[in-house]
Amino acid sequence: DSIEKGGYEHFMLKEIFEQPRSILDSMRGRLELESGHLNMAGFRAYEQKFVNAHRIIIVACGTSWHAGLVAEYLIEDLARIPVEVEYASEFRYRNPVISERDIVIAISQSGETADTLAALELAKSKGATIFGICNVVGSSIARATDAGAYTHAGPEIGVASTKAFTAQVTVLALLAMCIGQRRGTLSDTKLRELMVELHSIPTKVEKALKLDAEIQRISETFKDVPNFLYLGRGYNFPVALEGALKLKEISYIHAEGYPAAEMKHGPIALIDENMPVVVIATRDSSYEKVVSNIQEVKARKGRIIAVVTEGDTTIPAMAEFVVEVPYTSEVLVPLVSVIPLQLLSYHIAVMRGCNVDQPRNLAKSVTVE
Ligand code: AGP
Repeated sequence: DSIEKGGYEHFMLKEIFEQPRSILDSMRGRLELESGHLNMAGFRAYEQKFVNAHRIIIVACGTSWHAGLVAEYLIEDLARIPVEVEYASEFRYRNPVISERDIVIAISQSGETADTLAALELAKSKGATIFGICNVVGSSIARATDAGAYTHAGPEIGVASTKAFTAQVTVLALLAMCIGQRRGTLSDTKLRELMVELHSIPTKVEKALKLDAEIQRISETFKDVPNFLYLGRGYNFPVALEGALKLKEISYIHAEGYPAAEMKHGPIALIDENMPVVVIATRDSSYEKVVSNIQEVKARKGRIIAVVTEGDTTIPAMAEFVVEVPYTSEVLVPLVSVIPLQLLSYHIAVMRGCNVDQPRNLAKSVTVE
């Protein structure tokens, strides 16, 4: 067991620390910086369909659904195709409107999630083109699709998904870049910039992992609280959802992820001096707005833990705790900003004596409805 964990105390921690490598593996052979080429066999198989698609519908559950939300931002930004992200369990029972000009992308680490598989089969029966993004090679969802892309993150044992999420986002970023290039919605210069940026992500993740000891100290302060709120905007909104899900799953602390601007429509009522609020506030187009959201939390005495870009001089004056991650382009920021949140949930769960790798009531893959 301890050999399998590679010297780490838990599989989850091992998998968190594997991310520089697993992200690299998920882009290996697909992103060729020297020649400036993107090679995705799955994309090539459906190239024309992607170019002509009216709409892309993403179906998934849990963390994979969060990766799908990131893809909504990516594909709409870079490829200008409307995207809808659906919980597979709702989609399959909703009598959804699907046409032959739609592409349905199913995202699943295990490739065995019953609801995602059923949603895919439904879309297929209605004539949509289906595309799978799975981690487990030869899994049911991978076999049910005609084309797709494996994430190549390696086996994920911890029930809480970590490296599968970042591998999914990497593959989805590559896919959005391929579609954008082919549809002419992404200029050569911008594409080149993004390729360089994506290539640098493993190094930036490596740097973000150095926050481990600092996050362990922060976890000590919050390990006994009953509630947490996570806020983010834009590309960091799905990251807020993912941070909250991680904490719920393994520490059993109630946590909610919210788009920061939605806070004033309800959750702000929860904020008092006992409420920890994790705000993902990296340097991007919504930075100023997130700073105002932090002020709103501070005015109500909420305890702010902020994830900021290195060198930020504004937020440290407002937050109780600040963790700095390396700067990266806005469209790729989830790959870096999620790292401290994974570590936070891990350390809090360990301090609470929880079974991190096999949390109560949860299975690694949900093969029943
Ligand atoms: C993530 O931490 C969860 N354990 C869970 O939400 C998971 O992402 C979900 O069940 C989907 O699984 P899949 O990716 O294997 O389809």
